[in-house]
Amino acid sequence: MAGSVTDVGIHAMEVYFPRLFVDQTELELFDGASAGKYTVGLGQMQMGFCADHEDVQSIMLTVTAKLMEKHNIDPKSVGFLAVGTETIVDKSKSVKTQLMQLFPGNGDIEGVDVTNACFGGTQAVFHAVDWVYANVDGSRENRWALAVMGDIAVYDKGPARCTGGAGAVALLIGPNAPLVFDRGLRAVHMQSVYDFYKPRMTSEYPVVDGALSVQSYLSALDACYQLYGAKYAKITNGKHPDLSNFAAVLFHSPYARLVQKSLGRLAFHDFVSGRHSHLSSLDQLSAFRGTPLNATYGDKSFEKAVLTASEQLFRAKTDPSLLFARRIGNMYTGSLYGGLCSLLLTQSPSELVGRRLLLFSYGSGSAAAIFSLSVSTDASRLQGLLQSAKEAAYRLDHRVKASPKQFARALEMREQLLGKAPYQPHALCMDDNDGEGMMHFPLFPDTFYLTQIDEKFRRRYERSTNVQQNGH
Ligand code: ACO
Repeated sequence: MAGSVTDVGIHAMEVYFPRLFVDQTELELFDGASAGKYTVGLGQMQMGFCADHEDVQSIMLTVTAKLMEKHNIDPKSVGFLAVGTETIVDKSKSVKTQLMQLFPGNGDIEGVDVTNACFGGTQAVFHAVDWVYANVDGSRENRWALAVMGDIAVYDKGPARCTGGAGAVALLIGPNAPLVFDRGLRAVHMQSVYDFYKPRMTSEYPVVDGALSVQSYLSALDACYQLYGAKYAKITNGKHPDLSNFAAVLFHSPYARLVQKSLGRLAFHDFVSGRHSHLSSLDQLSAFRGTPLNATYGDKSFEKAVLTASEQLFRAKTDPSLLFARRIGNMYTGSLYGGLCSLLLTQSPSELVGRRLLLFSYGSGSAAAIFSLSVSTDASRLQGLLQSAKEAAYRLDHRVKASPKQFARALEMREQLLGKAPYQPHALCMDDNDGEGMMHFPLFPDTFYLTQIDEKFRRRYERSTNVQQNGH
């Protein structure tokens, strides 16, 4: 029977990240940075990276194929698929069209790519949710929507390089979900700012103004939180939310220390609006009561005060979502959703059921949003999501540690890949292997990888097997 659907949200999730990672302590030494800068100063432990036989299309193929296989999704049961990415391999042909090879016999799948730095993933998710509300009626249209987001985050040599990463997330979206997107509670903030952008068509590296990108991230956070509060009050007859209302508070994570400072800022907003029973060391915050927000960016004494006031809150509500971000690095569009996967892994379902999760998405340029998810009251409905999170955690522990030199070599390979045709990935060549058929740049089993770019720039992919790609 036809009718409007309710509770649109996430039914299933798959996370992909590369098999290789570099240790941040070793990278500090290799880069000549002071000991502790990447690990303590930025709060990062490891960073995932790809050589030149993985590109954005291969990682998206892998994560989408795995989501469909694990959850027995019939390719014909998908009606929408949007991709969020800022790792552009073609200025016209979308990554989405490449993914169509996973849907034989079903060309009727709406959606293409969405790009704005790390925010494209969230916009793809919003499009998927909206497509379900606008089209699915349980009768004429009853198919799933997919949102897939991922990037290979690489920086030129310099202070930003250690904040790279790589990975992709695929979400299965439909009605009556265990994680429901709250309607009327999307608080968006967009403006034009040159904090991080990619004007060079022949380079994967962004132009970055690091300090401006941090300030832009934090000012967008301030604006979104205030707007979310106003929207929340509107639909709850004037009841204003504070951080104690949420089981968890998740952020896009360029590096973990920025996330901790971000939670501190939200705590300061709560304090200023008189809701502070969940905060500590209020006397330190009092000193900043009348300070305009603009004067607080980069103010070390302000940062210290908000970090102290929110220390326990951070441990309880945000740290559990940072496991993947600390060990994979910035997945750009996938980062926030990797955070959701980490949370499911580290938090017991009983602490989440029936509660709301608050999420902040930021993409340079800039586009940002705070929105919330309501968790089902039935813990058993989270089991499928928990299983995926456990499998991702298993893979995380079974990666291969590379040396900083090997990481630098992988980035050199990627530099050569751009704009070249024909091109054969160096990671697949014997020169870059150990001569015994073992790759120096191993992949997980069942991973799509780039085998060739032909003379017309057409990319070809194959899928790894257990045997050949196991590596060291
Ligand atoms: N031990 C402990 N801490 C240290 C040490 C040390 N030996 N050395 C430095 N630190 C601390 C610093 O005090 C600083 O902490 P603070 O910010 O709390 O004061 C932190 O480590 C970073 O040091 P900086 O000197 O500020 O770092 P730098 O200027 O070299 O670069 C930055 C940091 C801007 C984040 C850079 O890595 C970058 O540009 N990254 C990419 C842009 C980015 O991620 N922006 C975030 C939002 S946009 C996005 O998502 C892409």
